[in-house]
Amino acid sequence: MQTEDLQKQIIKLNKIGIALTSEHDLDQLMFLIVSEARDYTNCDAGSLYIREDDNLIFMVSQNDTLARRTGVDDEQVMFKPFSIPLTRESVAGYTALTGEIINIEDAYLIPPEKDYKINREFDRRNNYRTKSIMSVPLIDNEGKVIGVLQLINALDDKQNVITFPKESENLVKSLSSQAAVAIKNAQLTKCLKKAHYDTIFRLSAAAEYRDLDTAQHIRRMSSYSGLIAQGMGFSKYDVEMIVNASPMHDVGKLGIPDSILLKPGKLTAEEFKIMESHTTMGSSILANSDSELMKKSELIAISHHEKFDGSGYPNKLTGEDIPIEGRVCALADVFDALSSPRCYKPAFPLEKVLSIIEEGRGTHFDPRVVDAFLDNLDDALEIKELYQDEEEMTGEEAPRDIKAN
Ligand SMILES: [Fe+2]
Ligand SMILES: [Fe+2]
Repeated sequence: MQTEDLQKQIIKLNKIGIALTSEHDLDQLMFLIVSEARDYTNCDAGSLYIREDDNLIFMVSQNDTLARRTGVDDEQVMFKPFSIPLTRESVAGYTALTGEIINIEDAYLIPPEKDYKINREFDRRNNYRTKSIMSVPLIDNEGKVIGVLQLINALDDKQNVITFPKESENLVKSLSSQAAVAIKNAQLTKCLKKAHYDTIFRLSAAAEYRDLDTAQHIRRMSSYSGLIAQGMGFSKYDVEMIVNASPMHDVGKLGIPDSILLKPGKLTAEEFKIMESHTTMGSSILANSDSELMKKSELIAISHHEKFDGSGYPNKLTGEDIPIEGRVCALADVFDALSSPRCYKPAFPLEKVLSIIEEGRGTHFDPRVVDAFLDNLDDALEIKELYQDEEEMTGEEAPRDIKAN
């Protein structure tokens, strides 16, 4: 390669490196790695495997030829992630186990003495011809192979399939190590987020523990909130925020005495006043944090009992003066309270729940929130199914006031 070409390649590689390190979403990152590497080597297809114990999980598959044929403008080929055992018999497995780059001229002409061979099943099923392959290990900063990048069918200017040039191997290798570090970071972020959510959830469950609600209430309520937010066109980030912040909506109940929180039957006006203060207490527990998530939680704690017509509490806010997160969580919370059994009442039938929600459109609830919820009712019912309470109660009992708290 000429010095000038090499310089250009390095600049290009640098740009890819920057793009990779700025993508923190694991799925999008893996997709980006394959598309950037394909772009860089000018090849028709590519895939990415992640190593998990003794398996390789096939995570991303892109194929321009197949995408063109099926008319999908995205180059992603639809498939469900699947795993293959980590052995030297597959090209990807061999790459992962040896940490070597394999550059194959023709996949159908691999010498029989090689450990690996090609599974032609994919080609047969899709009427595709895999010819040249460059299989590259994704080696992280500790020297561990965390996955494999496979580039398939390098193309020349006239779109003819050629062999991957030998001199591109080192540059692709360097791209792969940047990719490996980026993947590791994204995996770590995902893991931290999960731990974070888990902690929030457990703390919120502790707050609800004394109450008559169930821990599953928090999961469902948080998922419904995410669903509504998504339906209203929130960004992915904001959806995630509301999912993670909403479990703390009732954390202020920690400050409500048992005699009120656990009182069977109706609360007196005075007791109700105290019960209402779980919103302000929640917000003071969560106040003054630098964390954006805590700030959102604070906002939700204080505003999830406000009503659209101003008849809610604690601040009697109306309409759009109520923070959008509070409006979303209000519906999620009430839907769950109505549709789940509590020890003081059975679950209401769906029809009744929906008619109560409809009645609340514009009075209790923001109409846009109601629309987003009803548009996604099937998904909401799936969430309900997924996070069932352990003991479903049946039969009629004297209901205490429905409390969506
Ligand atoms: Fe509440
Ligand atoms: Fe609640």
